[in-house]
Amino acid sequence: MDYKRIALSLLVSAFALCPKDEFSPEIDRGSFTLPDLPYDYASLEPVLWSQIVYYHHNKHQSEYVQALNDIVHKNYLYKDFTVPELLSKFGSSDPKLAHYGGGYYNHGLLWWILQPTSCRVTSLDGKLQDKIKETWGSLDNFKQSFSSNSTAIFGSGWAWLCSDSKKNLRIKAKENEYSPLIDDECYPFFGMDLWEHSYYLYYIGDRDDYISQYWDIIDWELVTYFYEEYASRGKAVPV
Ligand SMILES: [Fe+2]
Repeated sequence: MDYKRIALSLLVSAFALCPKDEFSPEIDRGSFTLPDLPYDYASLEPVLWSQIVYYHHNKHQSEYVQALNDIVHKNYLYKDFTVPELLSKFGSSDPKLAHYGGGYYNHGLLWWILQPTSCRVTSLDGKLQDKIKETWGSLDNFKQSFSSNSTAIFGSGWAWLCSDSKKNLRIKAKENEYSPLIDDECYPFFGMDLWEHSYYLYYIGDRDDYISQYWDIIDWELVTYFYEEYASRGKAVPV
């Protein structure tokens, strides 16, 4: 065993500027597991408190995975499909599948969209930057529009940036865990969880403050990759 190499590797990891795993999609069918977070629970602080991230992942997301498995195991029609395929084909006719499959997918995508606060702040680039400018005039205008759509959601839900069948960018506000993937309405590649479990305790219920801080932990490089590789081509990001 090369102890020197292992020690050097641990040292590099400890001082890594961006301690986030490389994107590695999990394409499961028939049975699903809770994916690991691509970084430590505390690494999104001070924007997201470690205890909130821990319970969000280990309790809420984990419950979605278990409930989704129960649904899929009881219906043989569902056994051969990925979660994006299930949402696309059956989401509009099966509310439980829409809720728990949506919860599985939405959270799977969420953690990749974010990055530790120690990471270099990245900016929009390439085709996504051009498309956002074409659609909203500037990134600031887009952020304003996305934030006001998020603020307007009454109760639990998500706000999404997605690409529709005509390759136009859309902001979609969805209640509960309903995904824009249902009926292929739109392919999401950036979003914000607006359920109280994602912010309430840390922000003392101040959703506007949570929304304004959220922009500081976005991994724009990966969001751009999700747009170019998947959403703009009419494909779901595989998480
Ligand atoms: Fe959530």
